[in-house]
Amino acid sequence: MGLVDGKVALVTGGGSGIGEATARLLAVEGATVAVFDRDGGQAERVAGEIMAAGGTASAYTVDVTVEAQVAGAIANVVAEYGRLDIAHNNAGMSGMPTAFTDLAFDDWQQMIGTNLTSVFLCMQYELRQMVIQGSGSIINTSSGAGVVAAPGLPHYTAAKHGVLGLTKCAAQEYAARGIRVNAVLPGTTRTPMIDGFIAGNSDIEKMVTRGIGRKSMGSPDEIAQAVVWLGSDRASFVNGESMLVDGATVCR
Ligand SMILES: NC(=O)c1ccc[n+]([C@@H]2O[C@H](COP(=O)([O-])OP(=O)(O)OC[C@H]3O[C@@H](n4cnc5c(N)ncnc54)[C@H](O)[C@@H]3O)[C@@H](O)[C@H]2O)c1
Repeated sequence: MGLVDGKVALVTGGGSGIGEATARLLAVEGATVAVFDRDGGQAERVAGEIMAAGGTASAYTVDVTVEAQVAGAIANVVAEYGRLDIAHNNAGMSGMPTAFTDLAFDDWQQMIGTNLTSVFLCMQYELRQMVIQGSGSIINTSSGAGVVAAPGLPHYTAAKHGVLGLTKCAAQEYAARGIRVNAVLPGTTRTPMIDGFIAGNSDIEKMVTRGIGRKSMGSPDEIAQAVVWLGSDRASFVNGESMLVDGATVCR
């Protein structure tokens, strides 16, 4: 028996990094997986590789900042598989550090749209389906920047703090209806997002690594392990939790 046998799951940002690792692990643990990504080619690749390995998956090209696309894709998942048991709202972006007063309004809006509003939109449509079922588990990807400041990234920090606010509000409102809503807070994890930031510069890599408690980055699979457990029935009394998975970096 897998940890999430027979469940129907969706993962946003499932075409890369943490989302890709979660989509793969959900499938290994027995779930049917809907891979959502703005980059449809990457979503197709991940879903195809899951199928080739014997799992069940399908790809959806979705920009999670656009309500009509979110609504349509979630409706299609329910039409195809009959239900939605687990949702990992994970799609996101990072930014280049800048002085607070130099942050362009456009950059602020893009960050809040991609990392916060998208989570709100996905949760609305996921929760509506889960209320009908009387069950479901949502896991939102926040960050260490959800509980402490990421220097030079006020928009990222605000968005990731906001994700925790959405998580806690929904957890309290829906707990008595059989729905759990939790957040995972990854520490620095080796994904294309971080590779883009390091950009092959070994000095930046050393600086980033020095700041991590265990002195090495997380792997996407180490984050996925926490997400899949939170999504599973093993975590039945865990609700409204903000789970750091960061090798002892933030230690609230
Ligand atoms: N990698 C880290 O160190 C780290 C640390 C803390 C939190 N996080 C968070 O984890 C999440 C995943 O990050 P990652 O490192 O795997 O990044 P990544 O860049 O490897 O993957 C992000 C995926 O999200 C997709 N995406 C972006 N905007 C989208 C949109 N509007 N609609 C649909 N898909 C969209 C991208 O196409 C990409 O496939 C993000 O929310 C990020 O903020 C990452």
